[in-house]
Amino acid sequence: MAMGMAMAMETESEGRSKEGGSMSTTRREFLQATAAVGGALGLGMLACARAEERQVPRAERPLRILILGGTGISGPHLIHYARARGHEVTIFNRGRREPTVHQELIARTERLIGDRDDDIEALRGREWDVVIDNSASIPSWVRQTTELLKDSVDVYLFVSSLSVHADNSKIGITEDDPVATIDDPTIEEVTGETYGALKALCEQETRNAFPDGAIVVRPHLIVGPSDYSDRWTYWPVRIDRGGEVMAPGEPTDPTQYIDARDLAEFEIHLLEQRALGTYSAVGPLSPLSMAELLYGIRAVVSNEISFTWVNADFLDEHEVRPWGHMTAWIPPREGMEGFSAFDNSRAVAAGLKYRPLAVTAKDTIDWWKTLPEDRRADPQAGLPAEREVEVLAAWHAREGGSR
Ligand SMILES: NC(=O)c1ccc[n+]([C@@H]2O[C@H](COP(=O)([O-])OP(=O)(O)OC[C@H]3O[C@@H](n4cnc5c(N)ncnc54)[C@H](OP(=O)(O)O)[C@@H]3O)[C@@H](O)[C@H]2O)c1
Repeated sequence: MAMGMAMAMETESEGRSKEGGSMSTTRREFLQATAAVGGALGLGMLACARAEERQVPRAERPLRILILGGTGISGPHLIHYARARGHEVTIFNRGRREPTVHQELIARTERLIGDRDDDIEALRGREWDVVIDNSASIPSWVRQTTELLKDSVDVYLFVSSLSVHADNSKIGITEDDPVATIDDPTIEEVTGETYGALKALCEQETRNAFPDGAIVVRPHLIVGPSDYSDRWTYWPVRIDRGGEVMAPGEPTDPTQYIDARDLAEFEIHLLEQRALGTYSAVGPLSPLSMAELLYGIRAVVSNEISFTWVNADFLDEHEVRPWGHMTAWIPPREGMEGFSAFDNSRAVAAGLKYRPLAVTAKDTIDWWKTLPEDRRADPQAGLPAEREVEVLAAWHAREGGSR
């Protein structure tokens, strides 16, 4: 729309120039006019952002919130909701990652620059009511920040992960089920193997430093507008493209995720309520199958589309991987039966609310379309289009032809 308006004005200014005004005057007029429109649009965006903030009712008691992180996937939504509730927000990060949502709001938020690896000095001598630690997977990082902040903040909320669990085979894993351990707790390299146990140690550091002020939130896959990892995003974008879509495993295989905005609202709610404890932040509210996920996303697009379900063994033979290629899908077997069937009842009782799948899907597609073309041409996850065509052709050509 902005582009259309600018183009219309350019045509108009050229016309005036031909009628007698000097080129430099009309060009100046054009630049002034476009600057005015740009300014008006900027003010319009600002007004929209502020109006959006105003739609959320104010919290009874404003908090001074420090977010360790604040950009990335979930940080911008935390800032947006916290500010909308009337809280004062400071963020701390290295300044390496620029947000793809709420940019204007984040530009108006206090930002401290440092590095949890070796420079947290910017946090010294400051006071906040609460901290949201949204950037640590290494226990020593949590030890250092809790040590520095434990006398100057009341509550420390650590964002952990549902990967902490020792055994993912159980359906309905709760917050009280055992967490993974690591032989050498001084290891600081975060890999697929160490991530869960290190997050569990980070949780423990939080509880040790804040015995009367610790909140631990364990999200499942965080999704929605701003998810630069492209994991869950693969499905809305793929389905929006239409054609024959390869769907993985059995239509009844379960799947779970959490919209980054629902997660943000839940974390702020826990802090406002001072609801100490540990919570599995996982959705949606009721169990969801892969078929419900894919057909639910289909409901927000309008195109020619069909789904072909390809079984897990065939995908394995053709090196199509769960999670990396077929995102949000973990075949419920070989010890992973419970990884898409976590119990969410404690979080729901504490106030976790869920946007409908259709909202998450539609907003993700709309956000994706705002990204630069070269970024969209370079997805970080999902099955490349040409591989999908190849594997589908092999599936249709196989002997027997049935699932
Ligand atoms: N994404 C998921 O699906 C998922 C699932 C479960 C749990 N979690 C957990 O949820 C939390 C938030 O996840 P996310 O995906 O939103 O995170 P993210 O996108 O990776 O963002 C991380 C934030 O931390 C900052 N950061 C990273 N390294 C830093 C350093 N050395 N010093 C200071 N700041 C640093 C980043 O900014 P700079 O790079 O500019 O410093 C950014 O603001 C993380 O603890 C993650 O482990 C994520």
